[in-house]
Amino acid sequence: MSRRKPSPPRGFSGDKYSVLLPTYNERENLPLIVWLLVKYFGESGLDYEVIVIDDGSPDGTLEVAQQLQHIYGPDKIILRPRAKKLGLGTAYIHGLKHATGSFIFIMDADLSHHPKFIPEFIRTQRDGDLDVVSGTRYKGNGGVYGWDLRRKLISRGANFLTQVLLRPGASDLTGSFRLYKRSVLERLVERCVSKGYVFQMEMMVRARQLNFSIGEVPISFVDRVYGESKLGGNEIVSFAKGLITLFSTT
Ligand code: GDD
Ligand code: MN
Repeated sequence: MSRRKPSPPRGFSGDKYSVLLPTYNERENLPLIVWLLVKYFGESGLDYEVIVIDDGSPDGTLEVAQQLQHIYGPDKIILRPRAKKLGLGTAYIHGLKHATGSFIFIMDADLSHHPKFIPEFIRTQRDGDLDVVSGTRYKGNGGVYGWDLRRKLISRGANFLTQVLLRPGASDLTGSFRLYKRSVLERLVERCVSKGYVFQMEMMVRARQLNFSIGEVPISFVDRVYGESKLGGNEIVSFAKGLITLFSTT
């Protein structure tokens, strides 16, 4: 099944990667995602840290994260919890403040984003010295697995609308598996106004406006096995509002 791919070029010893992992009720998923991150970064020989931003999950995610910190070490697993659920967009901003890497990965903690794609993100970034590398479900071998028709339509619809309205030059705008140069992410975050799920899309639109270089890596997005999505009707309404705001202000 797995064709062996060359590992990312070595010799960039100054590069450190910070992975921002926002969690809300991910007790069951966190050990596996962290284990996979340690595995893939370990194999690459690159320096990294995983920053867990837990928003007061009632299921005890933070306690699990503390155990993982014991296992893998406080230099590898950094905990930056917040007292309550304050939303995905601000979770990234919070995590970024504490990140020490020169490159930042943003990904979901529920295993929908598999760490096996990380070497490809890094290779793509290095090949073109790119500012942003975005995972895409809508190009090449990319895809979505396990979603019902409703979710597929919402995702396709959101992407399509944004493509038409804002022409951002990337095929997957609502996805959130991405690699940024740290300085680039900081500039983008300064510009972004949205706080919820629409944040992902705004980031790409702003990246385009600021003429940052954007690359894409096809990824397969597999729906979570444990727990449930936090993307409810409310988030969809705020996504639509956010899109309109962006359209009218750009
Ligand atoms: N800290 C924190 N605070 N984390 C959160 C919050 C929050 O308020 N809300 C969600 N998360 C975490 C989840 O625990 C998970 O790790 C990640 O953010 C994504 O949340 P999900 O609930 O799994 O999102 P999804 O699967 O419905 O949506 C995914 O696909 C969307 C559309 O493609 C995400 O990748 C979205 O970002 C994406 O827009
Ligand atoms: Mn998910």
